[in-house]
Amino acid sequence: MRYDRPPGPRTSRLLGNTLEYDRDRVGFLRRAHAEFGDVFSYDRRTVVVADPELIHGVLTRTNTDFDGDGSPFSNERDLDGADTSADEWMAARRVGWHRLSRSAVGAHVDRLAGMFDATFTGSGSIDVLPTMERLLGAATADFCLGRSAAGVPELVAASTAALVPVGGTSYRLPSWLPTRSTRTFVELRAQLWDGLGTAVRTRGTELEREPGQHEPRDLLDQLLLADPRVSDGDAQRFLRGVLMAGYGVPAAAMSWVVDTLLDQPEHAGVVRAEVDAHDLRRPDVAALVQTAAFVREVLRLRPPTWLIGRHARHDTTLGSWRLTRGAEVVFSPYLLHRDGRFWDQPEDFRPRRWLPGAPAPVRHAYVPFGAGPRVCVGAQLGMLQLTLITAWLVARFDLQREQTATESFGGLLVPAGLRVRLTAR
Ligand code: HEM
Repeated sequence: MRYDRPPGPRTSRLLGNTLEYDRDRVGFLRRAHAEFGDVFSYDRRTVVVADPELIHGVLTRTNTDFDGDGSPFSNERDLDGADTSADEWMAARRVGWHRLSRSAVGAHVDRLAGMFDATFTGSGSIDVLPTMERLLGAATADFCLGRSAAGVPELVAASTAALVPVGGTSYRLPSWLPTRSTRTFVELRAQLWDGLGTAVRTRGTELEREPGQHEPRDLLDQLLLADPRVSDGDAQRFLRGVLMAGYGVPAAAMSWVVDTLLDQPEHAGVVRAEVDAHDLRRPDVAALVQTAAFVREVLRLRPPTWLIGRHARHDTTLGSWRLTRGAEVVFSPYLLHRDGRFWDQPEDFRPRRWLPGAPAPVRHAYVPFGAGPRVCVGAQLGMLQLTLITAWLVARFDLQREQTATESFGGLLVPAGLRVRLTAR
């Protein structure tokens, strides 16, 4: 066992590495990885790790040795409260996602088609990221709350927008600091919380009145019809978590799909040939193998959750290093997905890596949805949404780039500024 701190870039006493990191986040991590290897210190309490086995070890020890909440390079964690809140979250997670009913997913696909049609009404130019946020925000709210979703996507969008100035810098400002954006965020979060409380109570009363209703139509039904039933407070908390997590990330992913369709006309042509031969009024997602492979390869090169962090709940270890309670471990799926040790021609866009029969990727080297007990609950749903939206877009429109995107590594990796003209085919 080694007790000392892993090597790493020299830090300024006051600001650590924040200034240099914020200037070019991925460049900073790449240079430090090249110089110091698979485990290096970012500052006094943060260790960055680039080895897939070590990363997997941290992810699988989430909830026991590591805390699963909070964003990377984030503020102090409430480690004492972490145990109880993780238990409640995990209990609701098990009920909410366990045997998620076919009827709820089937109903979601039908309604997703309607939401797609309402978003893309005909030819015209669009700002891709905000458009996808509206579509996927509405889709996730509908999946969670069905007929009780009114007003919820707007609140989720506003709360997320209020967080952006906070996620744009890596300075560790305490979350209680009364800045305008923290105040706005806290207010919107309270409104969302209250709205969800009302939705949970109202649905509870409705279900009591119709005792024959056993087949869940959405996630809220799933939570309230479970035996034993999830408490109102836990259902409210779980719904809030799912709504927030299922908004910006799939929208960023879908925006990268659009960017890549424009960048890779040959591969886009393969997707189009597949969807043109498919009956998209009755889509069979399992048969859209080229489309799904395209989406998976986009998630390799542009994983929206490009940086993931965990805090040690108590003194623990990372390989041969010792971590003290509160230490943070950070890793980047973006860098892992482009590491030449684990990928053949890592910078090339090659959807065939994901076609049936292709060799499996190196163990634990592909983590766009995370791993371990806190792996994305929406992974299958997200793949379903992205595959269908890609298929519908390509089937109905020709795409032309109007404004080029820049890779923006903020709280999420997004194609900032991407603007596209859609022409109905
Ligand atoms: C392409 C789409 C998506 C991607 C790439 C993605 C990615 C991720 C990743 C990487 C994590 C783990 C973060 C960490 O370990 O810190 C995560 C967690 C989560 N995701 Fe997703 N996600 C997607 C879609 C969705 C959707 C559609 C939903 C909900 C409907 C969703 C709900 C969640 C939730 C609730 C968590 C937290 C799980 C927990 O902590 O137990 N995600 N997602």
